[in-house]
Amino acid sequence: METIIKKIDRNKIDEDVIEEAGYILHEGGLVAFPTETVYGLGANALDEYAAGRTYAAKGRPSDNPLIVHISHFGALERIVKEIPEKAVKLADRFWPGPLTMIFEKNELVPYGTTGGLDTVAVRMPSDIIAQKLITSAGGYVSAPSANTSGRPSPTTAQHVMDDLAGKIDMVVDAGSVDIGVESTIVDMTEEPPMILRPGAVTKEMLEEVIGEVAVDRAAILEDSKRAPKAPGMKYRHYAPKAQLILVQGEEKEVVRAIRQLTGAKEKKGFKTGIITTSETANAYPFGILKNVGTKKNESSIAKNLYRVLREFDEEDVQYIYCESFAREGIGEAVMNRLVKAAGHRIVRAKQITDLQSYMRILFVSDSGNCRGPMAAAQLKKKELLRAYDIDSRGMIVLFPEPANQKAEAVSMSHKITLQDFVAKPFTEEDLDGDTLVLTMEESQKEKLKSDYADLEAVSDIRTLGEYIGETGENAQVKSAYGQPLAKYGEVFEQLDVMTDKLVEKLNKEAKEYDSDWM
Ligand code: TXA
Ligand code: MG
Repeated sequence: METIIKKIDRNKIDEDVIEEAGYILHEGGLVAFPTETVYGLGANALDEYAAGRTYAAKGRPSDNPLIVHISHFGALERIVKEIPEKAVKLADRFWPGPLTMIFEKNELVPYGTTGGLDTVAVRMPSDIIAQKLITSAGGYVSAPSANTSGRPSPTTAQHVMDDLAGKIDMVVDAGSVDIGVESTIVDMTEEPPMILRPGAVTKEMLEEVIGEVAVDRAAILEDSKRAPKAPGMKYRHYAPKAQLILVQGEEKEVVRAIRQLTGAKEKKGFKTGIITTSETANAYPFGILKNVGTKKNESSIAKNLYRVLREFDEEDVQYIYCESFAREGIGEAVMNRLVKAAGHRIVRAKQITDLQSYMRILFVSDSGNCRGPMAAAQLKKKELLRAYDIDSRGMIVLFPEPANQKAEAVSMSHKITLQDFVAKPFTEEDLDGDTLVLTMEESQKEKLKSDYADLEAVSDIRTLGEYIGETGENAQVKSAYGQPLAKYGEVFEQLDVMTDKLVEKLNKEAKEYDSDWM
């Protein structure tokens, strides 16, 4: 079947399109349309056969009930056994809007629509196009999110086409939706009423109107093994193709952990993606980055979330690491969807960073143009299990000097070139907690520690010898400055042995947190 796409302008609604779409629905066809939450796949809710077509198009299990969409409150009493007082209050406050309520159904609603349940979920969307369409179709439109089952919900008409082209009759295209995550579902047949799925209407907002509201813990909890009450919440919903891993914790810690995790994966040859926010978008050296919004405004994240997940499906990445967000306001719904998309793969950032796996290794010497660059060049050539940013700095660098000529000559004889090297001074930015600072001698370490005493990361300053467990004479790497070439050769050899040991230590550490998804 060919799927017709009809563009429609919210500010100048073409009634012919509404009429045509309404007619298709009325006749048992399928029309995808915008709502303020996500695009829905509309069908006549009172027609059992239309429900069957909906399940087939989505590839959705038929025990997963559909939400019946109405366009005015009066439509509700015709399909439910009773309307509790609290539901009247909630409808008064939140309809039309992103709230779905569950009632005892009456015989007008076919079991095909409710997945065999005696209850029915009802919602009155605020989107003007949705409202007009529902009215035009006869007043009762069942609409699950218009995605293939298991894919992120669609927030644009293009998303709908990507999933359902050729399987449905029409898509009404009115651009991007407003909210981006599905409606809040509240079961009004329970006392107190119970939230089965968090959305833009939060628990606090509901409680303000009707007092106590319960939450289906299984729908919310990260580790719940119990089946949630909304049948649809038990499926691995919103699943991106790549493995999604949610990293929780304090922002700084989360960034460090994701840097380490992506670094480790990239080193093994995997491609990684990172879901970042405007606050942290510049913090990552590895991976394909997609900015989902700003932490200052959770709604921006809700709005972009599914688009970003879909975009990652187009990218050739095997792992996606995602920062976690505050569970405030719509943030609760965002985290709920992310936890599901992650298939409950959640890491505590602290757990990763506590392993003291560094991203960056910085060798520090005095003038910064001999021992440091030699050690850095050696380490870069060795077999490391993880990707590190390896570099060197000098403590007294007045201008960008090239490498010491003797150091370069010695390195050349070992097939290492320092030709393009220029010395850089050590600065405060080099102490960022991701960086392992390795000095050549004790004196340099002490100097850095006292110069930057007020920085937290000073604990990551060691001498190279100390870090690899060397003691006595061999622990210090003394400068060969002003001495004959042979002395430079000795320093090179000493560093070679030491960087071998460093590789051993770093690789041992890397193996410690190797699991299939971390
Ligand atoms: O925002 C939304 O609600 C969107 C737009 C299109 O309106 N619709 C949507 O529908 O998200 P859907 O089918 O993707 O999700 C409906 C959820 C499912 O998890 C389903 O199991 C649950 O609602 N549900 C529907 N009827 C129910 C019932 N009688 N009892 C418990 N859960 C029900
Ligand atoms: Mg859905």
